Amino acid sequence: MTEERGNFGSKLGLILATAGGAVGLGNVWRFPYMTGENGGAAFIVIYIGCVLLLGIPCMLSEFIIGRHGASNTFRAYSKLSGGTPWKFVGLLGVLTGFLITGYYAVVSGWCLQYIYASIVGELHGDPTYVKTYFTDFSEDAVRPVLWTVIILFVAHFVIIHGIRGGIEKASKWMMPTLFVLLLIIVVASCLLPGAAKGVEFLFKPDFGKLNGNVFLGALGQSFYSLSIAMGCICTYASYYTRQTNLLTSAVQVAVVDTLVAILAGLMIFPAAFSVGINPDSGPSLIFITLPNVFNQAFSALPAVGWVVSLLFYVLLSLAALTSLMSLHEVSTAFFYEELHISRKRGAVIVTVLTSVIGAFCSLSLGSMSWLQAGGKSLFDIFDFVTGQIFLPVGGFLTCIFLGWYVPRQLVRDEFTNWGTLSGRFFGLFLFMVRYVCPLAILAIFLHQFGVI
Ligand code: PFF
Repeated sequence: MTEERGNFGSKLGLILATAGGAVGLGNVWRFPYMTGENGGAAFIVIYIGCVLLLGIPCMLSEFIIGRHGASNTFRAYSKLSGGTPWKFVGLLGVLTGFLITGYYAVVSGWCLQYIYASIVGELHGDPTYVKTYFTDFSEDAVRPVLWTVIILFVAHFVIIHGIRGGIEKASKWMMPTLFVLLLIIVVASCLLPGAAKGVEFLFKPDFGKLNGNVFLGALGQSFYSLSIAMGCICTYASYYTRQTNLLTSAVQVAVVDTLVAILAGLMIFPAAFSVGINPDSGPSLIFITLPNVFNQAFSALPAVGWVVSLLFYVLLSLAALTSLMSLHEVSTAFFYEELHISRKRGAVIVTVLTSVIGAFCSLSLGSMSWLQAGGKSLFDIFDFVTGQIFLPVGGFLTCIFLGWYVPRQLVRDEFTNWGTLSGRFFGLFLFMVRYVCPLAILAIFLHQFGVI
């Protein structure tokens, strides 16, 4: 027998949990370096446009499918598919969430190591030392694997306590803590000499720098950041009630997610500009560039540098953990409902399998470097297949499914809570989901393979 699924107990809890799923490494790590690479403020303007016009409709589509299904993502799509192969889009969402869990846990585990390294002061040294520290650690056979398993266990521990007692309760203190940490570091960063240049870079748009790449980069980042097409949004929405206003919730989650991303920029750019480093260094930003920035920016006040570095990695770990919980829940819900087992057992299956995937992804970066294909490590292959193939394909098919296949009246009923809410934006929503979103996703997909 499948146990009672439960649901979110309060509006605030629901928003914080869903926003926690969305706010992750994508906000604190990917958003700042994408902004750095794409010209600063002008990128942010385009990014906000993408969130409003494309991210929110896609999120809303997943909310509708999830809440209507009141079950895991696979079953939620099945319920609407009438026995047609559309149900496999739901399965793709579960698979994407599952595969991402493993390698996302590896990077989340690195954040835990950096909390430890900040505490014991292992991150101090010249730039070459900081770089070698990261390479030595990430290629190590034991420590990163251990941290990966530890963070998966923490997510597991939260998940087994259910939606209200686990995910909602944890998000209600983790998200405000994350916000407070973010604000403290923003203040410390903005007080540094020369910080104003960083603030200007973030807020003074130079539209001369815009080109097609900037648009597609902003679009891809908005989907990544909002956790579109990986089952998370749909799974969390399956725990919403009939009273939840889906449009308002999507807007609130998007606002929180975007605010955190901009604050992350405001934390990183002023500090980086104050020591003359432009944070456009790609993936190594948070583990190599930033320790260097902290070392140099606070060289006169080492105690403040120590605190800022520690708080930063605690913040990063919290952001990663709330996302990891949402990713874990996608497969946990799938297993316990499809195999008719308890939530606890479902969670055990997911934790064990994703620990194995995570361990191999981590080892592929060092001691098992033969775990690669086409010059890419297993870690990179997971990143590429999920992020660049499964996500856009799943997102595209979801829009077509909801926009063209699911009966319009059913979509309208979910949108307006069966006629009790205004349907003022329904026409616009449907237009975006039918035409604009699929075309935009297709554009990102083709662009990354150099077709357009
Ligand atoms: N949206 C979250 C983030 O920005 O980190 C979660 C996430 C996104 C996880 C993309 C994994 C992923 F590939």
